[in-house]
Amino acid sequence: MRIPKRVKIVEVGPRDGLQNESKIVPTDVKIELINRLSATGLSAIEATSFVSPKWVPQMADNTQVMFGINRSHGVSYPVLVPGMKGLEAAVAAGADEIAVFGAASEAFSQRNINCSIAESFDRFTPVIVAARQRNIKVRGYVSCVLGCPYQGDVAPEAVAQIALRLLELGCYEISLGDTIGVGTPLKSRQLIKKVADVIPYGLLAVHFHDTFGQALANILAALELGVSVVDSSVSGLGGCPYAKGAAGNVASEDLLYMLNGMGVETGINLAGLVDAGLFISNYLGRPSGSKVSRALGIELRSE
Ligand code: HMG
Ligand code: MG
Repeated sequence: MRIPKRVKIVEVGPRDGLQNESKIVPTDVKIELINRLSATGLSAIEATSFVSPKWVPQMADNTQVMFGINRSHGVSYPVLVPGMKGLEAAVAAGADEIAVFGAASEAFSQRNINCSIAESFDRFTPVIVAARQRNIKVRGYVSCVLGCPYQGDVAPEAVAQIALRLLELGCYEISLGDTIGVGTPLKSRQLIKKVADVIPYGLLAVHFHDTFGQALANILAALELGVSVVDSSVSGLGGCPYAKGAAGNVASEDLLYMLNGMGVETGINLAGLVDAGLFISNYLGRPSGSKVSRALGIELRSE
């Protein structure tokens, strides 16, 4: 076991969390959420996505969100970008980091970004080149690493291959996404070890949705291998509009509680995260998806 001393949490709630909400969340609520998250000590907050508003209407206010937030020193605000059109808009909105998102499943690639895996690399290549010319860091996602809603099983070798290609194109980190939360700890461990045959653990992140309640167990399996970057979503918000039934990401509050309990440093304040989670849960009118938040006994407030 080599649990890292320090773990970086990448907060994806404002993007992965909100993108799946069917009712449009007002821009000022998104901005307030990001500002509250910025005050917790998080160093990365995925703020929005520059995708087609026809595909994901919830993210149509991407530019307003980017201009509306108070950017805290030392915090990066990555945004998703699927192609050159998205990159141009993200650059105009002052994005300091972007993420391209590919998949290890052919069927999911088609449903999510309307192209094959091979075509997706043709789109990512100029995006990554242009971003890096502007000193914009690029993160790479691989979706469906432990299963696909359309195709079922996904071979770990396929995941490793896609991850390596993204790294070779210039991504600084690869986030392995269990998009529909079907992974279990031993499978997660096998998958990560397979990817680590070609990419060092230090360049990997994990991104677990909690559909089957396995996310924290899977994260622990990843930490034990030495992975030290974990994506999570405040209040457990989330899902992918193109992965039916995908539940939220692991709740950031629950992840932080686990890390605190293991003595792992994060630099993040739990009370602040709980506050941000309650703010958005309150807006959405439903209880927090974080068990820690609920256990702390803080009731929904009507502010
Ligand atoms: P397309 O229809 O194949 O391509 O979409 P297109 O280029 O023909 O674009 C269609 C229309 O969208 C055009 O408008 C474009 O101009 C416009 P029209 O000519 O019809 O008026 N358009 C845009 N407008 C604004 N901003 C843009 C943009 N791009 C195109 N950036 C495309 C291809 C990739 C654009 C589309 O499929 C898309 O936007 N997909 C995004 C889907 C998405 O956001 N999914 C959720 C994020 S992934 C995820 O959640 C997984 C993750 O969390 C990890 C995990 O959990 O595994 C990351
Ligand atoms: Mg996701």
